[in-house]
Amino acid sequence: MKRIVMISNRLPVKLSKTSNKVHISFSAGGLATGLSSFFESRPALWIGWSGITEERLTETEQTDIQEKMSAKGMYPVHLSRREVEQYYYGFSNKTLWPLFHYFQLLAKYEGSYWKEYVNVNRKFADAVIAQIKPDDIVWIHDYQLLLLPAMIREKLPDIPIGFFLHIPFPVYDIFRLLPWRRELLEGMMGADLIGFHTYDYVSYFFDCLRNIMGLEHSLGQVRIGNRTVKIDTFPMGIDYKKYHESAVLPDVKREAAKMMSQMKDKKILLSVDRLDYTKGIIQRIESFEYFLDKHPEYREKVTLILVVSPSRDGIEDYISIKKVVEEKVGALNGKYSSIGWDPVKYLYRTMNFREMMALYRMADIGLVTPLRDGMNLVAKEYVTACEDGRGVLILSEFAGSAKELGEALQVNPYNYEEVSEAIARALQMPQDEKEQTLKVMHRRLENYNITQWAEDFIEKLLSVRMQNEFITKTTLAGEEIGK
Ligand code: F6P
Repeated sequence: MKRIVMISNRLPVKLSKTSNKVHISFSAGGLATGLSSFFESRPALWIGWSGITEERLTETEQTDIQEKMSAKGMYPVHLSRREVEQYYYGFSNKTLWPLFHYFQLLAKYEGSYWKEYVNVNRKFADAVIAQIKPDDIVWIHDYQLLLLPAMIREKLPDIPIGFFLHIPFPVYDIFRLLPWRRELLEGMMGADLIGFHTYDYVSYFFDCLRNIMGLEHSLGQVRIGNRTVKIDTFPMGIDYKKYHESAVLPDVKREAAKMMSQMKDKKILLSVDRLDYTKGIIQRIESFEYFLDKHPEYREKVTLILVVSPSRDGIEDYISIKKVVEEKVGALNGKYSSIGWDPVKYLYRTMNFREMMALYRMADIGLVTPLRDGMNLVAKEYVTACEDGRGVLILSEFAGSAKELGEALQVNPYNYEEVSEAIARALQMPQDEKEQTLKVMHRRLENYNITQWAEDFIEKLLSVRMQNEFITKTTLAGEEIGK
């Protein structure tokens, strides 16, 4: 079986350094864990940044980390402080991230960011080329590495290369704002297969290819030189079995029961996000305030648990949003709290898996209202963890997952009236309606789970590669005859 070489900006590990000792914890969530059963069934290598700047590590520590990670099938790319500053915080998260999420006023177009983005993508390409074996399959992930497919293709023309974008791909009128729009498209087009979460993103990508590179597609395939690139939709799933089964584990049930007794019969609305302006946290608090204003009968009866996990705290826009979130929570609690009740319980920390499952289990409503989100797996996790027919999902129409979770109460997060009425509706929803909608969504999430997603992607990638090998052979044969 062919080995898969996964490449992402971050490795699925957390590195920390305290008093000259480096700690490595292998992350319990996300893509890596989700794909664990898929990886167990085949050889794999994961290449990515260790998450710590190289200046903080001695040479011995770097070698030590390298050895420990290699035992786990990982290969770290070390990045300097300057590279992290300009490539990760800079171009990836101050240019591409805001722009691809339609926050064009926040996007910065700095030549120095771009220069380092190119350099770091090249550094990743060198690492891949050094590690690759002839039979490998390359699978590159996300917006931090848009140039990598072409950089690898240049050196290894026959290797299967897949690229998957985990965030939205914007419409042409937004994408065209990028001074380096052509270079980025050319970088992506080095892949044999480019995957997006939804068909909208695919069609916006086609618009950009047409308008910027003059390339047309035919049935989702684009001819570039003597290669074909397939562009397709792969809505990323979750590890359904793990979330479904964990929700009924005794310690999760115990934790949920404890939390519920502390909440004293209040109906629970749950919101879980990284701290990010794209997640609509401020609008969510304001919508909840609107709901309490409009529905005094629910005061003292519902609580919003607002879990916010720290993220990208080296960026000014992230620091300032934290301040606004905290002011809004304070103001709302100040307005409506009583001795026995606070409308919002704000938890600024990263929850462990058991706590997260317990929260999902106890929540009557999952309030997932990003302003823009590539997919949003929290929505899928919440639905999957809801059992006993408990739980209603309120979901933003601007999350990629809205395309699959049509049974959720879908809202425009900027429309406070609509969000408020969805909360009221969810609180009054008859039990059989809840059960029915959950059942349909469960079936879908179980069928297209993360393993299915990965297998589907790899299968398509290999078939496009075969097609490309055929084109190469017939072109060479044609040239031979023409000689
Ligand atoms: O959604 C894009 C993404 O890069 C995810 O892959 C990741 O979990 C999240 O954003 C946080 O990213 P980071 O902390 O690495 O910037």
